[in-house]
Amino acid sequence: MTNSTPPQKNADRVTPLSRPLSILPGISVKNRLFKSAMSEQLADRNHVPTKELIHLYRTWAKGGTGLLVTGNVMIDRTALGEPRNVVLDEESDPSLFRKWAEAGRQNSTQIWMQLNHPGKQIPNFLSTEPVAPSAVPLGNGLEKTFNCPRELTQDEIVNIIRKFAWSAAQAKEFGFTGIQIHAAHGYLINQFLSPHHNRRNDQWGGTLENRLRFLREVYSAIRGAVGKDFPVGIKLNSADFQKGGFSEEDSMQVLQTLQSEGINLIEISGGNYENPSMVGANVRESTIKREAYFLDYAEKARARLQIPVVVTGGFRSAAAMEAALTSKAVDMIGLARPLAVDPHLTHKLLSDGNHKIALKKLTTGIPSLDFMAMLDVTWYEQQLARIGSGKPAKPNMSAWASVLKTLASVSLLSFQRRRA
Ligand SMILES: Cc1cc2nc3c(=O)[nH]c(=O)nc-3n(C[C@H](O)[C@H](O)[C@H](O)COP(=O)(O)O)c2cc1C
Repeated sequence: MTNSTPPQKNADRVTPLSRPLSILPGISVKNRLFKSAMSEQLADRNHVPTKELIHLYRTWAKGGTGLLVTGNVMIDRTALGEPRNVVLDEESDPSLFRKWAEAGRQNSTQIWMQLNHPGKQIPNFLSTEPVAPSAVPLGNGLEKTFNCPRELTQDEIVNIIRKFAWSAAQAKEFGFTGIQIHAAHGYLINQFLSPHHNRRNDQWGGTLENRLRFLREVYSAIRGAVGKDFPVGIKLNSADFQKGGFSEEDSMQVLQTLQSEGINLIEISGGNYENPSMVGANVRESTIKREAYFLDYAEKARARLQIPVVVTGGFRSAAAMEAALTSKAVDMIGLARPLAVDPHLTHKLLSDGNHKIALKKLTTGIPSLDFMAMLDVTWYEQQLARIGSGKPAKPNMSAWASVLKTLASVSLLSFQRRRA
């Protein structure tokens, strides 16, 4: 069977994975499988969705997953995290966004748009002067490829908040069925939350209350723009796992505050570019047994929250997913890389309790090259491009082929930008 063929086996089996989940009165997700955001890099030069991006979401919607979160959509075209990000700002052409939403709504699927601003996590070939809460450079060797950011002014902060709300209102208008705020993985909102990255001594920095102000303002502006009956979720780090960074205690308090302010769903992840725990860097042996990297944290968070909790990172087998749901630690199972190599995985998980997916260990044998080329991300983006163009994913693609492809496209882009 190719990875594009849906399975037929035992489609009626009873499993906690197939139970619907209510998000808001009258709005529910048809099952417990949640496609976590994956930056697809399938926008065109004007940063609008391509037909490949639309085809990718139609394929995932047919694959049976209850909720699809889009890859991060940038709210400002002067702040891209990657060259081919989708951007939803005042210059965007609406028609293709409508088609993208329509493709993702097939088969009674929810499609939520993830909104993001990268802050300082912009490679230097895309921006000479990124912005951030404070002028603190990225470390861990990344200072060579990411420029030191400039501190945002008060007016710029207010303008970014406005842009988040504007993009959210547009996404709703185009037919997306929810919004997810990206507050994880070291991007701008996470930079504000982190005492390491946020050294401000005005109302936006210092105490947790102040570091949280930016996120609260973004949430409140989005809520004001989409209304109270439209789902708004958040992706938050359980911790940055970085000395002096956003801690687990901070994270728990942020979750409780957001719940009290009316957020509808929380997705838990962790890490940032300096320490990519979101894709399993430095995972403990005890964690590997339960597959999911952030399940211990989710259990503690669950005890304090009444809204749906999703945990993402590491799930590979139906058995581990069912155990996590049965334990009540989580309400939905977040999946990213598995759905990039098998867009029909959800059908298989729902129909076969023994189904598991093994992912290739990606390395060129040179760890520093793997890290700098962000192999754990770029290899999967190349799989998404294959599915988007109607080809099957290629789970055996070599790490070297992927790194060479990435380096070639980065050199081409830097060259084009120098000429522009
Ligand atoms: C190609 C790729 C792109 C990603 N892009 C995003 C993104 O845009 N937003 C986000 O929140 N997480 C992003 N992630 C992280 C995933 O959502 C997820 O947290 C991580 O891959 C762990 O889940 P998994 O073990 O199921 O892959 C990306 C991961 C990959 C592999």
